[in-house]
Amino acid sequence: MKNWIVGNWKMNGSQDAVTDYVPALLNGLAEFTGWEKSARVVLCPPYPYLGMLARALIGYPIAVGAQNVSAQPQGALTGEVSPHMLADLGVTVCIIGHSERRRQFAESDDFIGEKLRALLEIGLTPILCVGETLAERDAAGHMDVVRRQVLRATEDVSAEALARAIIAYEPVWAIGTGVNATPEQANEMHAFIRNLLDERFGAETAGRVPILYGGSVNPANAGALMSQPEINGTLVGGASLKSETFLPIIEHSLT
Ligand code: 13P
Repeated sequence: MKNWIVGNWKMNGSQDAVTDYVPALLNGLAEFTGWEKSARVVLCPPYPYLGMLARALIGYPIAVGAQNVSAQPQGALTGEVSPHMLADLGVTVCIIGHSERRRQFAESDDFIGEKLRALLEIGLTPILCVGETLAERDAAGHMDVVRRQVLRATEDVSAEALARAIIAYEPVWAIGTGVNATPEQANEMHAFIRNLLDERFGAETAGRVPILYGGSVNPANAGALMSQPEINGTLVGGASLKSETFLPIIEHSLT
């Protein structure tokens, strides 16, 4: 399985930033001969920049992802964007269930499950985010929370479809705090998620789903995180905003 390095720009960026970023990233990647054989790089800018980024990356092995999507195909849903619209722009990946959306926009596991199914139905790759808060970990409830988030969102999904999805473990306490989960903590949760998938969908599917870690990933900790057997990549926020910090994270993910 290739390692996935996904940059989530959140609500940051501009047309100028995209224009500067693309050549800097491509020039940097050109230094890592054969990088595309072991890594899949995805950039997830805000909606308005998806089209221009996808156009700039035509012909390069770098995918473009969205940070959210509607589960509905069309209709009276002011402000929403459908899976088909993303595909129409050349987007192939989409983050769903990010903890910032769960918390600030009250997204439920069932609602996130609808998005998961809508993306899989039209062949886009969902990145389903899960992860506990600090209070939940302190109360030793982190495994239960993640179990619920994974199983509820994937309830009506077939094994064949789930094999085309990605899961990202992002402990809420590690996001934007500078305090990453230790490689061992992350690996333990990834193994737990893999086991859940095995029980629910079978070993073959469980073995095909990349499980990414996210939460304060940076050039200094990426190598140790990536050395863990159950970590198949990273979902990077702040450090993906500049190619100078994203490139060394990619380099640490090459095998
Ligand atoms: P940071 O890397 O900024 O902690 O953000 C992680 C994240 O939420 C990626 O989706």
